[in-house]
Amino acid sequence: MSTENIIGNQAPIQGELTPPGDKSISHRSVMIGSLAKGTTLVRGFLDCEDTNSTLCAMKLLGVPIEALGTNVEIKGSGLMGLSKPYDVIDAGNSGTTARLLMGLLSAQDFLSEITGDKYLRARPMRRVVDPLRLMGAKITGSEDGNRLPITINGGELRGISYEPPVASAQVKSAVLLAGLYAEGVTEVKERKATRDHTERMLSYFGANVQTDGNTIRIEKQDDFNSAELLVPADISSAAFFMVAALINPGSEVLIKNVGINPLRSGVIDILKQMGGDIEITNYSDEGCEPLADILVRSSGLKAVQIKGDMIPKAIDELPVIAVAACFAEGETAIREAGELRVKETDRIKAVTTELRKLGASIDEFDDGMVKKGTGVLRSAKCSGWGDHRIAMALAVAATRAEGETEIDGSECVSVSYPGFFQDLRHLRK
Ligand code: S3P
Repeated sequence: MSTENIIGNQAPIQGELTPPGDKSISHRSVMIGSLAKGTTLVRGFLDCEDTNSTLCAMKLLGVPIEALGTNVEIKGSGLMGLSKPYDVIDAGNSGTTARLLMGLLSAQDFLSEITGDKYLRARPMRRVVDPLRLMGAKITGSEDGNRLPITINGGELRGISYEPPVASAQVKSAVLLAGLYAEGVTEVKERKATRDHTERMLSYFGANVQTDGNTIRIEKQDDFNSAELLVPADISSAAFFMVAALINPGSEVLIKNVGINPLRSGVIDILKQMGGDIEITNYSDEGCEPLADILVRSSGLKAVQIKGDMIPKAIDELPVIAVAACFAEGETAIREAGELRVKETDRIKAVTTELRKLGASIDEFDDGMVKKGTGVLRSAKCSGWGDHRIAMALAVAATRAEGETEIDGSECVSVSYPGFFQDLRHLRK
């Protein structure tokens, strides 16, 4: 197990950085590009373990794909162009790969099987399996289909109107992808809006998807044509440098070409509410996603209450927001965030346990945590819990902890951001 050692010598974070491509959008570019007719060119693709799982899956489903770093060329043959895989599809650590593929594979005229690593095999799948079964999908797996490995006997589907009990873009996307093939209309009614990359990308490719408030509708589609896509930098990766700059005195960092989709940019709103000096510049909105540069300067922070609609908009950034809260004046509460318990690991438990080792004052609740900002952390030997975002959030905390902090299992950052530690070192002056 590799260990990263970070010396919290109060170094400011300075300079410019373009984080790697957005993970959610990269997954979707390969899946939707594979369903289009013709050659889809993707630029800015995220080259990491998770997205590689999606690339391998689509190749296994017979789609010719050439990936050269951040450039990917996909030769799609239309909605009916996938073929029976000769092997089990391994989604690795990637929930997005497994869950979105379940939607897609439910409609194919062949048998397929999906598995994943030990973390993914422990995560709930019924949230996706339930609506797909209502659509007519034949899915089996352990715990009545709640755990990978899962077998899908694809076939004809019918449209449904579905209100997911949990706010999840993966559930919504799986149902919409199945809806491309289902007889009639498929409708997802969200109680809280989640990231809309699937809807945006499908309509960019020319599929007929309609959004009306929090309701998204899709009809059985005819083939749509290929497109050229530019993947913006991942706001979830940018968030680590935003917080590192805010909490380290003397910092100023320009984070470039970041996707600032309003359903993903909760971290900007929250950090601004905390008093963060954050400027959005160079805004553009040409492809299917808006992007901008984000200028962040170190700031005195104050506590905030985070709950409700804000949770899905910042779900993946909550661990690093918890780090910012250690340096905020007052008590920051993150509540109604029980979903954090079923991410790559139990992120409420992981954040509470590891930040306490660093001396943070933090109370754990079923649905979140409350932190007293003490403004001081001390060094410790920490674990990344095999979870990329926990390891990176701890690295950010370590930049302000007194002394040398060790993060065990830090190699898991390659799930979403293989160059994270190099980029952090480069910006620490
Ligand atoms: C994702 C949706 C979110 C997010 C995950 C990526 C996506 O998961 O946490 O990292 O790409 O659709 P849920 O759908 O489980 O909320």
